[in-house]
Amino acid sequence: MATTIIEPFRIKSVEPLRFTTKAQRAGILEQAFYNPFLIHADDVLIDLLTDSGTSAMSSRQWAAIMEGDESYAGSRSFYRFEAAVKKITGMKNIIPTHQGRASEKILFTITGGKGKYFLSNTLFDTTRANIEFSGAEGIDLLTEAGRQPATIAPFKGNIDLVVLEKTIKEKGAAQIAMCIITITNNSGGGQPVSMENIREASRICKKHGIAFFIDACRFAENCYFIKQREEGYATKTMEAIASEVFSYADGCTMSAKKDAFANIGGFLALNDDALTQECRNLLVITEGFPTYGGLAGRDLEAIAVGLEEIMDEHYLKYRIRSMEYIGEKLEAAGVPFVKPVGGHAVYLDAKAFLPHIPLHQYPGLTLSNALYIEGGIRSVEIGSLMFGKYAADGSLIPAQMELVRLAVPRRVYTQSHIDYVAEIIIDVFKKRQELKGYEIVYEAPLLRHFTAKLKPVA
Ligand code: F0G
Repeated sequence: MATTIIEPFRIKSVEPLRFTTKAQRAGILEQAFYNPFLIHADDVLIDLLTDSGTSAMSSRQWAAIMEGDESYAGSRSFYRFEAAVKKITGMKNIIPTHQGRASEKILFTITGGKGKYFLSNTLFDTTRANIEFSGAEGIDLLTEAGRQPATIAPFKGNIDLVVLEKTIKEKGAAQIAMCIITITNNSGGGQPVSMENIREASRICKKHGIAFFIDACRFAENCYFIKQREEGYATKTMEAIASEVFSYADGCTMSAKKDAFANIGGFLALNDDALTQECRNLLVITEGFPTYGGLAGRDLEAIAVGLEEIMDEHYLKYRIRSMEYIGEKLEAAGVPFVKPVGGHAVYLDAKAFLPHIPLHQYPGLTLSNALYIEGGIRSVEIGSLMFGKYAADGSLIPAQMELVRLAVPRRVYTQSHIDYVAEIIIDVFKKRQELKGYEIVYEAPLLRHFTAKLKPVA
């Protein structure tokens, strides 16, 4: 039998790429204040900034878009969407939102507030920002293995259960708004969480009367890892695994821009009727009527089809294998990265890649910018530019890790694009000694990485 794992699709519509020279890219980066978020996408050759909203939709999704029912209330598209979400999550109440962070904003406005804590394996940046914006505090309780880029373990996204219990006792169960587990753990290397960890974290929360939620953006990739790596799941269907994952939760937030192959959309799924009512009340003033929640009927259709397609094991096998493929190339060249490779992205370990650049000069951003200049590849720093804080004396309190994420959009790039990306990373690795760090010249008070302006250190 053939062993090559192929893209389980063929291409019907293509988009040309625009090539630039290295000298042009140096100028473009300067114009963008050395922040890849500020580069025009047309000036990027291979865009690995995010896997969010960047998927290629299928012909079935495009066809479903034409079926969109744009009725303000009671749209047929909503009922299709609702059924698709219920089928996977088994949750009782489904609230559409325009994207993941809108779900977070609504949920945390109601459950958060001053004096409250949100416990997690690792909160994503917008999730943390929404928690903090409500006045509450987010606490990451990732296991030790998850914080060591070079340590190889099957479930490096796991929450530390011992520390979870300890933190609940320290802060007091009544002060804890919820425990929210991110699957896969985006900010921690796209690493999966095991079924056992989800089950146990849920049990601990239940024992203390604390709500247990899932940040489900990449639930299908996580389920595939469970199937591959956890004992007892090898012969289970994706549907059965997903259904067990969600059975442990009181609710979930979801960005349909990831594991639903949609360009926009999200939802909040909840079992509690009273909480649902409060969320819907807020939804009406911020997003829209409960049967569209910030989305067009056609978007709801695209999500409903995307949720079916994401459960295809041929797709997930290709997806996870194509990520491993990049990892193998980097490993052979000695490039430091988070191991094993994550579900949606490769995370370069910038601290180990550029040990000569101090953390307050942002080695992650330095590496990300070098990849752009060298090969027109856009990536994102997940390190002290994104998560760093300042101490009272103005010095930097660095992030846990200095990573550069190369997130691979779903069904968009082919194997030769990926070969090219690996080649550029390895070229930059060979020249790493020549790279110099950056300093910030402007920053916003929240989520500063999106709009920060920087300059190279003298
Ligand atoms: N939670 C996780 C784990 C995420 O990765 C994201 C988005 C969100 C919540 C928010 O969802 O963008 O639809 O509002 N992550 C994107 C990324 C932006 O690039 O990883 P959203």
